[in-house]
This record gives sequence, structure tokens and C-alpha cells, in this order.
Amino acid sequence: MLESILFKKVDIVFPDEIKNGDLLVRNGKIADISWHIPDGAELVIKDSGLTLLPGVIDPHVHFREPGMEWKEDIESGSMAAASGGVTSFFEMPNTNPPAATEKLILDKKNTASEKSIVNYNFFIGATSNNIEELIRVKNIPGIKVFMGSSTGGLLIDDYRDLENIFQRADKLIAVHAESESVIKKNKKHSACYSDFTDHMLIRSPEAAVEAVKQAVYLAEKYHQRLHICHISSKDEVEILKKETGAGLISSEVTPQHLMFNAPDIYYEFKGFAQVNPPVRSRYHQESLWEGLKSGIIDCIATDHAPHTIKEKQQPFGKAPSGMPGIETALPVMLNNVNRGYCSLNQVVKWMSMGPAEIFRVYNKGFIKSGYDADLVLVDLKARKKIINDKLYTKSKWSLFNNMDIQGWPVATFVNGTLVYREGDFFTDLKGQEIIFY
Ligand code: DOR
Ligand code: ZN
Ligand code: ZN
Repeated sequence: MLESILFKKVDIVFPDEIKNGDLLVRNGKIADISWHIPDGAELVIKDSGLTLLPGVIDPHVHFREPGMEWKEDIESGSMAAASGGVTSFFEMPNTNPPAATEKLILDKKNTASEKSIVNYNFFIGATSNNIEELIRVKNIPGIKVFMGSSTGGLLIDDYRDLENIFQRADKLIAVHAESESVIKKNKKHSACYSDFTDHMLIRSPEAAVEAVKQAVYLAEKYHQRLHICHISSKDEVEILKKETGAGLISSEVTPQHLMFNAPDIYYEFKGFAQVNPPVRSRYHQESLWEGLKSGIIDCIATDHAPHTIKEKQQPFGKAPSGMPGIETALPVMLNNVNRGYCSLNQVVKWMSMGPAEIFRVYNKGFIKSGYDADLVLVDLKARKKIINDKLYTKSKWSLFNNMDIQGWPVATFVNGTLVYREGDFFTDLKGQEIIFY
């Protein structure tokens, strides 16, 4: 491991400004940031013309290990992460078996300590009878509650179980907020659903609204921290506009919900476009951007949910929901900066600082003296296409395939170690367990 790295004359992105200067990394931490730091580090990166961002913290991924490693595993997922400037991830519990006990969480942390080249932690999944496990497990981002069924069997569709969790939990509760009863009702009224465009009718905005309302009500009643995953509709944004939740409530949006709209996405991508909750019309898409820019939505999460090309080519009703996205999220957002859609400061607020604050991540998410040196060096001028074959996810496909992108990660540093540089990985040192305060 290199003990010191010096970035000379680099554009450094802080929450509210971008400053050109020098930054010294020593023993895994950001040791100094100033206008001029004398040479003397083991590695000196000089006048690169590049920009240094805090590493992306992706608070919502599915890496499929254990149980579905043909789709992804912790090693391949972490490599995809590093190539996309993601230095930390929180993984979801709908693996096989579902991560619903302290023991299974510890097993995942153990696997990650041997295989993940970026920092890691894991949500525990709520079931109708594992409240003791939810309370026992320590140092995790939170409890994941599937209020509507999705990939895997985790589901809390009985209100009493949901209330019990909100009443007793001692950590943040993240919800997949789609009401199972509304989804079932929608399905009943529709013998004739046969096409991928029908997915958004079955999983309607009403399903999302019903679940979000319940979760917000319970969070306020029991004074619990609530994080609402993948907001997909204007209706949810409107609820969150009114419900401040006394600082208890946060939410995320995905690049796919920001960048695509229906029905076009279904015409172009068929089963590959199917995700829970669905990508909706332009009307909803625009409100997600507004929600994000106005601070109603707090951060971006990829919901990286890889399935194989074969699985996604199946007909409607058989194709699974979800899409990969961990390695394309930052390039897509840098491209949005170059298109004038948003600023670089906003991107780091949404992708690094936001997740760090919401989940109370210790010592990460900001470029600050003393913080962990999780950094990504990006070239805002570099132009190339996203190409399926070149992706590192095992699933090898992306909705962004063929998209011309300006703004790419060049090198990724995790705890002061170079783990990725322009197509090469350095995998000797592994990531660390993310600590929460
Ligand atoms: O579309 C989805 N896919 N939504 C989820 O909630 C789960 C995810 C998956 O794990 O495939
Ligand atoms: Zn979900
Ligand atoms: Zn998910």
C-alpha cells in the first residue's frame, strides 16, 4: 500500500465551492488540503487537469450473494462500483437466504471483507417475526422493509407487523414503498394485462402513495428515522413536500427514474425497462428532478439490481424487475453536469454527502482533513460511449448502452488505496466495513 499520495493543482469539489489546490493523503486519510503542499509523497499526481470528488456512497444495491451469484456477487459488484467512482455501498437483504438474521449479516460482512474492493455494509431484512434480530444486529445502515413484494420473498404486508417494526426498531427503517394490497387490487381489475407497459398500471402511483403515507404516519407516530427508497412519482414528491417529519424522513431517487420516461422506455427496452417501482411518464419524471433540486428528495441511489440478459428477455409476467446501474450512475450525472442540467456541487451533494448524512456514515462523504481518503478523480472532458460489453457487472447490459457520455471517472481511491485506474483494478487490499455514528 502506498502510504502517501499527493494530488497537485487539482480541482477539489467541496459542498459549496470548487477550489484548485493540493491534497495530501497519508495512511488512508486526507491529511492536508491547501494551496501548496511541497512534494515528498510516494505518488505525486501533478497538473492532471482532473477534478477530485468525494467517492460516491451508493446506499441501495443488490449484489446477489449469497444465492444468485450468476447475476452478480460481492466481488464483481464491488469492481463495477470502483469503476464507476463508487467507494462505498449498502447492500439490500433480498439475497437467498434473505439477510434477516444477525448471523447472516455477519456472514455477508465477512464475505465482503475478503472480496469487496470498496467499503461495504448491509441492510437487514424485516420479516413478520424477526424483530429481535432487527434490534440485536449492530452497525448496519438500517432495516429494509418491503411493503410490496419484489425480487425475493421478503414482504411486510400486514399493517400490524409494520406497526410493530416502527414501534420497536432502534435504527433507521428504509422502505420499498409500494402497497401490496393496492398492487393486488390493480391486478384483479385487469385480466387483460399482457404487455410491459401494463407494469406501471399494476404498480400504480396509488400503490406508492398508499405505502408512503403509511410509512410516514408510523415514522412520525413512533419518532423513527425513515428512508423512502426510489421515489418514482409526483404524488410521492407532493406528500414529502408537506411531511417534514421533524427531520426524520429522507428519500432517494434512481438515475433510471430521472433519465427515462414511459411509455417510450417500454417500447425501446421491453423487459429490460421493467423495475419496481416502475419508470413512469414524463410528468412524473420532471417532478423527480424538481424534487431533487429543491431538496425534497435527498439523494441518488442506483438500486443496482442485476438480472441476466436471458432472464430479462422473457415475456411480460416472467421477466424479473430491476436493472444494473452502479457503474453508470456517476458518468450519467457528470454528463448531466456537462449538459447544464445540474452542477457538480449538486452531484456530490446527492451522491456522496447526502447519503453520508442521511445514514450517519462516520468519516466519509466529504473532502475534509481527517476524513477517510475515499476519492474519485474524474475527467470532465473525457468523452466515450457506455458500452454493454465493457461493463464490469456480470449482467453486462445497461439502459444507457450506446449513450454518449462526457465526464468519466479515471481513478478511484478507497481508504487511500488506488483500486481502479482507467480499466485496471488493484485488488490486493480490500474495502472496510462502513461505520455509523
Ligand atoms: O425492480 C426491483 N428489483 N425492485 C426491487 O425492489 C428489487 C430489485 C431486485 O432485487 O431485483
Ligand atoms: Zn425496492
Ligand atoms: Zn432495490
